[in-house]
Amino acid sequence: MPPWPFSRRREEGAGNAVDRAPLLALLEADLRQRVRRRMSRRKIAAGKPLYRPGDVADALYLIESGRLRVFMHQRGGAELVLQFLGAGEVVGEAAFMAEAPYVTGAVAIEDATVLALARRDFDDLLGTHEALLHYLATVIAARQERANARLAAESAPEETLALRGYVTAVYSPRGGAGVTTLALNLAIALAERHPDDAVLLDLDVLFGHTLLNLRLEARGVLAQVGPNTLRGLDRGGLEHYLIKHASSLRIFPAATTPEEGQSITDAHVRSGLTALRRNFGHIVIDLPHAFNEVTLAGLDLADRVLVVATPESTVLHDLAEVRRIFGDVLRVPPERVSYALNHPQAYAGLTLSEFTSATATPWIEIGHGGDAPTAAALRGDSLIGTRPSNPVSRAAAVLADEITREAREVATLAGRAV
Ligand SMILES: Nc1ncnc2c1ncn2[C@@H]1O[C@H](COP(=O)(O)OP(=O)(O)OP(=O)(O)O)[C@@H](O)[C@H]1O
Ligand SMILES: [Mg+2]
Repeated sequence: MPPWPFSRRREEGAGNAVDRAPLLALLEADLRQRVRRRMSRRKIAAGKPLYRPGDVADALYLIESGRLRVFMHQRGGAELVLQFLGAGEVVGEAAFMAEAPYVTGAVAIEDATVLALARRDFDDLLGTHEALLHYLATVIAARQERANARLAAESAPEETLALRGYVTAVYSPRGGAGVTTLALNLAIALAERHPDDAVLLDLDVLFGHTLLNLRLEARGVLAQVGPNTLRGLDRGGLEHYLIKHASSLRIFPAATTPEEGQSITDAHVRSGLTALRRNFGHIVIDLPHAFNEVTLAGLDLADRVLVVATPESTVLHDLAEVRRIFGDVLRVPPERVSYALNHPQAYAGLTLSEFTSATATPWIEIGHGGDAPTAAALRGDSLIGTRPSNPVSRAAAVLADEITREAREVATLAGRAV
């Protein structure tokens, strides 16, 4: 999976994605300067190749900006996409290190610039640099493994291929952080981009507010369907339980009462998500705050987890705990988790950089949107529809674009049609 796009965006903005790229960051300062001086910049327009299969690999490339698609030709000539690479990542390393012609090709999918280090300069400056050689060996091994998985996916059973939906779970350890607001607006933004193909699964079973926010009434809820029935539902069967919003978003409420909510199990969530993933391209989950079995199942099955925090030091403390549980207990891969600092209140509180440095990970920030998000919820309006320039709407739109791209890339890599 590519690194979360927001980190790339921020780094590009700061103009230092290249310096922070492991290829250069691993080097001592003076050596890094010398390597940079020998690197030459190449611009590649969208759609143009950096290299083709069979070309001689006479340089190592580091992507400075833009995005590249790496592919190989299958028997019969069809293109098999192996990966997408962006700023700060090396490309063409396997053939370069093997001193062999490229087996793969690399094409810019948007205007890109790469920094090229010619073989003689590499040999001269880096040929015996242990940490650097170790890094390249690790990259080659990891990418080889991904390529193998990609090839295996080509022959995956239909049933797996059919699970096309991309699941984004929104979570916060604390109440009132803006989980429902973000999940709902993100889901609406996705529904606008993918008409009739986005669904919001409201798993906040005790205090589910999504329906309330849109003044919609539940027809059927997750708690009322047995897991086995749920798993087998087709689109028509699912529609019976889904509520349609004006944006084309479908909402699947978990329960109508707290008691009913408590009867929801891990099996409900797993079966529900299986049915939804088979029938929708995008699923957004509004997760409860507690680490109960419902939350754990949602986190386990999500392709992307968005953790929402508010700017308080107590939250920073909770986050350390959340990250420990994600890592040590749930084993959620860190690259699947992204972080948003939200401002439901007007006060500034802790800064974005305090969160970034305390967690050693990039964050996005969602500004305070005044009364509009709460007013929209009270009126039953969609914020993104009525106030597109509100900070919450803008954040939802950016997130929806990034998730759209990420889902497309993941689907391509999994061998699913997009
Ligand atoms: N960036 C923002 N600017 C202004 N108001 C916001 C913002 N984010 C959230 N809010 C408001 O803050 C309140 C809490 O948000 P929300 O209900 O989405 O949080 P939650 O994490 O789902 O809480 P709960 O614990 O109740 O499920 C709501 O009234 C919402 O409209
Ligand atoms: Mg909520």
